[in-house]
Amino acid sequence: MTFEPYITRDEIRQQVERVAAEIKRDCQTRNPLFVCVLNGAFIFAADLFRACDIPEAEITFIRFKSYEGTSSTGQVKQIMGLTEDIAGREIIIVEDIVDTGVTAVQMRKMLAEHNPKSVKMASLLFKPDSLKQGGAPEYVGFNIPSKFILGYGLDLDGLARNLSDIYVLKQEK
Ligand code: IMP
Ligand code: MG
Repeated sequence: MTFEPYITRDEIRQQVERVAAEIKRDCQTRNPLFVCVLNGAFIFAADLFRACDIPEAEITFIRFKSYEGTSSTGQVKQIMGLTEDIAGREIIIVEDIVDTGVTAVQMRKMLAEHNPKSVKMASLLFKPDSLKQGGAPEYVGFNIPSKFILGYGLDLDGLARNLSDIYVLKQEK
């Protein structure tokens, strides 16, 4: 497998700032709760949360897993759930990437059961051609074709999350 450069850290920073400004503009309550989906979103969430400088915003973490190797298993496992009361709160789910949308749909369903005021999702990356069900993110950094990518939090079986830029799997000819 070989990977080639795809999105640079500067391009990421620009889109993170744009998405943060959109979230801030739309925010209706004093203390929205950002819900970072581990593991992939932790780097994006750290940058987005700081760029979106709402004084009383809070952040928490949940963990889901659906990928093995370079493709979705179609089954989503919840590995770590929500610990706080979200009733009446404005929720921003922070995801690294929405691919089939299976994880997004399941998370929205799980969160909705706890009666939040609203649930929106910010995803750094979105593969619209792979989407199988609802659950498209309200805020998107980059729309990309359905190719496997890694870096900036995204992994291949746990590796490459620490790369500052994003790389795409090179198609074998
Ligand atoms: P979905 O449920 O199919 O939308 O998949 C969502 C999850 O799969 C994401 O949160 C990622 O963890 C993982 N994923 C999807 N596409 C990629 C990719 O291209 N590279 C790395 N992980 C991916
Ligand atoms: Mg993920």
